Amino acid sequence: SGDGYQAWLGFHRIAPGELYDQYAVYNRITVTEKDDIVRTAISELSRGIASILGNEPEVAESGVGVPCIAIGTFGSNPIVDRTFGNDTRSAVGPEGFAIKSDKDNRCIAIGASSGSGILYGVFHLLRLMSTGATIDKLDLVENPVNMLRMINQWDNIDGSIERGYAGKSIFYANNRITGDLERVRDYARLLASSGINAISINNVNVHKYESMLLTQEYLPDVAKFAAIFRSYGIKLFLSINYASPLEIGGLSTADPLDPAVREWWRGKAAEVYAAIPDFGGFLVKADSENRPGPFTYDRDHADGSNMLAEALKPYGGIVIWRCFVYNCKQDWRDRTTDRARAAYDHFKLLDGRFMDNVILQVKNGPMDFQVREPVSPLIGAMEATNQMIEFQITQEYTGQQRHLCYLIPQWKEVLDFETYAKGEGSSIKRIVDGSLYGNRFSGFAAVSNIGNDANWTGHLLAQANLYGYGRLAWNPELAAEGIAEEWIRQTFGGNEKLVRTILGMLMESWSIYESYTAPLGVGWMVNPDHHYGPNVDGYEYSKWGTYHFADCYGIGVDRTQASGTGYAAQYRGANYDRYESVESCPDELLLFFHHVPYAHVLHSGKTVIQHIYDTHFEGAERAEQLKAKWDSLTGSMDEGLHKQVASRLAEQAEHAKEWRDMINTYFYRKSGIADQLGRKIY
Ligand code: GCU
Repeated sequence: SGDGYQAWLGFHRIAPGELYDQYAVYNRITVTEKDDIVRTAISELSRGIASILGNEPEVAESGVGVPCIAIGTFGSNPIVDRTFGNDTRSAVGPEGFAIKSDKDNRCIAIGASSGSGILYGVFHLLRLMSTGATIDKLDLVENPVNMLRMINQWDNIDGSIERGYAGKSIFYANNRITGDLERVRDYARLLASSGINAISINNVNVHKYESMLLTQEYLPDVAKFAAIFRSYGIKLFLSINYASPLEIGGLSTADPLDPAVREWWRGKAAEVYAAIPDFGGFLVKADSENRPGPFTYDRDHADGSNMLAEALKPYGGIVIWRCFVYNCKQDWRDRTTDRARAAYDHFKLLDGRFMDNVILQVKNGPMDFQVREPVSPLIGAMEATNQMIEFQITQEYTGQQRHLCYLIPQWKEVLDFETYAKGEGSSIKRIVDGSLYGNRFSGFAAVSNIGNDANWTGHLLAQANLYGYGRLAWNPELAAEGIAEEWIRQTFGGNEKLVRTILGMLMESWSIYESYTAPLGVGWMVNPDHHYGPNVDGYEYSKWGTYHFADCYGIGVDRTQASGTGYAAQYRGANYDRYESVESCPDELLLFFHHVPYAHVLHSGKTVIQHIYDTHFEGAERAEQLKAKWDSLTGSMDEGLHKQVASRLAEQAEHAKEWRDMINTYFYRKSGIADQLGRKIY
């Protein structure tokens, strides 16, 4: 129905016809296992098929000779075992699966080596059915490319969500854990169906009450969440307060080299694992944006993370340590300190000092999830250290789920980026999947975009970012278009005009958003604190290290080695050369790396100032067209869904004009250079 709650798991009924007849054969599920995850898989498969076909399949232990979908781990179900030979079995990894159709016996087998594999196989089959694929000739093996496919909730225990744009937390209210476990279960379904296998359930900024999640007062409730996620193959992690020994432990220090502190964490780990035996581990934001950390005790981040890693090690737990560490009390007059350099400068020299159950989590860019940033040079720069990448699904700087911004194309660019870390063939995706350096742990993390709004993400079309993140974490080779199309068909059904229209809208949305906001990679022209809406100088004289240096002659940050902050030198070989030189620097990042006059001519042939005017006028027009495109779909989908998106797109179109006029006016006044086309500037 029209609220969007079912998201991509709505499973539209298919009309009578050839496809219906092909699917309808499989109205029986055979399975012999009964453990938690397999039971989840059975119920998901039954539920999905029931809604696609209109009647619930029968579930039976055996089914030789009758049409069926047979599911099981290898060695447990005769049909599965008969279907898959040794070659296939050995090709299926711990979380992978094989699916094969046997047309003659009218049977589809899903085999795996674990319950999670079966669940992923079931969701895969349902995805095929709900996108109208042929299923009687299947023969495939799938394994996730990344080991950790994690979601970070930035939920606070008072029910608010840091950078949340879709309502309140589904996990907490009033400093307690929610009683509405059904909604948490429905979230687990969404996550597992897209391939997610790990979640941290509280904000990385851990304050008084959140620190107490590690205590007996809260652990039994945390264990309830863990049980729900476990049944969907998802491991639970907690963000912890580095100063916990002080805050909840009654110690007088949190010094990582102090024996009493180490002992305290060992005891804490034992307590947590007693409550949650398969607990994933800790996520840590330390010495960052006023959060406590090892620097207080003159220790470094290897000391800090290793102490925690040692405590978790006996239980197989891991420490995910964030690299978002920079000086957030900078003086804007100081032009030598460069926030973009910070993560690399802090961590690079610690390479080799981290225990093997520590993973460094690095944001995709050096600043903070702007609409356009270069790729973080820290990723791949630490050969002897586990690393994972952090994306932001929640649209903090990309329109806050009031503007449409499909982020998968942005993430694809990051993942495909060639770092030259070990010569050619050292793309970001090969670093974070662990294959380049043979890391023990690696993968993806991303900040969730959900809340308790009926449709989960505020903007219905922002569901595509959550779905797409999971799919990309499973396989970074998937195309942004392909992921979008899957999502559209599952969410709205298969009307071709509708699919093409929404696909086009999603695929151009990042470029549209970029065009009417901050130009040429400079970023940050937003209102301080909440970060919504234009404010060119909002951060220009602040302490956050986020400047554009616009004056009457030009704009941009000189980050070259030759005359600037030297940030460009954190890149290797050809990347360094490309960014260091104003001639070869790509247009879209020009102002990130260089300070240039307004009359500087881009590769596109336009001057910087004319580029600003043109993109802002065009961007606002294109936002207007998004609205018109959506309007053309009236009547081809549920009215409620149509309406909610229409109202967001109307708001976006209006707000894009505000962006256009503020940015254009600001630069016209600064530069005194008129628009060549004489359009209205205020
Ligand atoms: C950004 C964001 C903060 C967040 C921080 C982080 O700065 O605005 O709200 O806490 O990132 O990633 O830790």
